[in-house]
Amino acid sequence: MRNMESKIMNLVFAFGILPIYMCTAQSPGINPNILTQSNNLGECQACKIFVESFKNGLERTTRGKYEGGDAAWEEEKLKQSYKRSEMRLIDIQDGICKEEKKHSIQCHHMAEKAEEFIESWWAQNPDESADLFQYICIDNLRVCCPQHHYGKYCTPCPGDHEKLCSGNGKCRGDGTRKGNGTCLCDIGYTGDHCNECLPGYYTSYKDENKMLCSQCHQACMGGCRAGTHKDCVACRQGFVFDSDEGCLDVNECDDLDRCSKDQFCMNSIGSFTCMTCDKSCESCHGDGPDMCRKCAEGYSKKGEFCIADREDEDQSEKLTTTR
Ligand SMILES: *[C@@H]1O[C@H](CO)[C@@H](O)[C@H](O)[C@H]1NC(C)=O
Repeated sequence: MRNMESKIMNLVFAFGILPIYMCTAQSPGINPNILTQSNNLGECQACKIFVESFKNGLERTTRGKYEGGDAAWEEEKLKQSYKRSEMRLIDIQDGICKEEKKHSIQCHHMAEKAEEFIESWWAQNPDESADLFQYICIDNLRVCCPQHHYGKYCTPCPGDHEKLCSGNGKCRGDGTRKGNGTCLCDIGYTGDHCNECLPGYYTSYKDENKMLCSQCHQACMGGCRAGTHKDCVACRQGFVFDSDEGCLDVNECDDLDRCSKDQFCMNSIGSFTCMTCDKSCESCHGDGPDMCRKCAEGYSKKGEFCIADREDEDQSEKLTTTR
């Protein structure tokens, strides 16, 4: 029963929690809400995709379908009538969202919602270069806002629109009917205006227009003054403080009892690993049959190597038979 439970937990962990954790770990600057939106696209984004697809349709049908008419004047006449025809609109709508692979469902859903607005736009003999995005997504479907505006009423993002959130983040809901206009800071930044560094980061640049935060050296714990291992406030576990050299890697393998008897120790920056010895060794100081401290049972030392006694017997047998 216990076993079963832990198996289920492993599955949950492998397929549920872990991938989400890995995503956030790989791109910690991205709000997890945005990550879930990439599966279930935001409405404004879906509208943008629909409008792009519609524009492609306009482009695709711009030269009409009656090419190769009998006479040039006839062709021209047919072209003109096609240009504003119901037929062309149908041709466009037949191809709508077809180029969209990833978000095809959301695109079609938006196309359905936009249909009545598209039809009344088409009936007005529109200028095809008009801003369809504004007309559909902002003014009629009301799923988007103009750039640097957010929320239900398209409120302007607070602050200087040239450098929102000190240039180190974005206004929550920017360009959509969502969000509350507060700053969503890039990785390494915090504060209401993203003008402070997160713990583990230091101010690597600052003038009246711009400030930048950079990550402390991996040897540091609890912050730093600058970017090297000499600038740490304190040393992380696995590092030791030296008054000249700052935080230095500890060679855990200097302690011979670090690993169990049949393993050897490999140092790494900030840590170490225990690796199992070659099968010919009982104990060893590295990988391979030439690195044994002591041979395993059934093996004996021949020069640098621990060789299986059986092989040895076979060889001596051969020697005796050839004699
Ligand atoms: C704005 O939204 C964010 C994220 O949803 C939330 O954490 C924050 O508390 C909100 N701030 C205000 C002032 O409503």
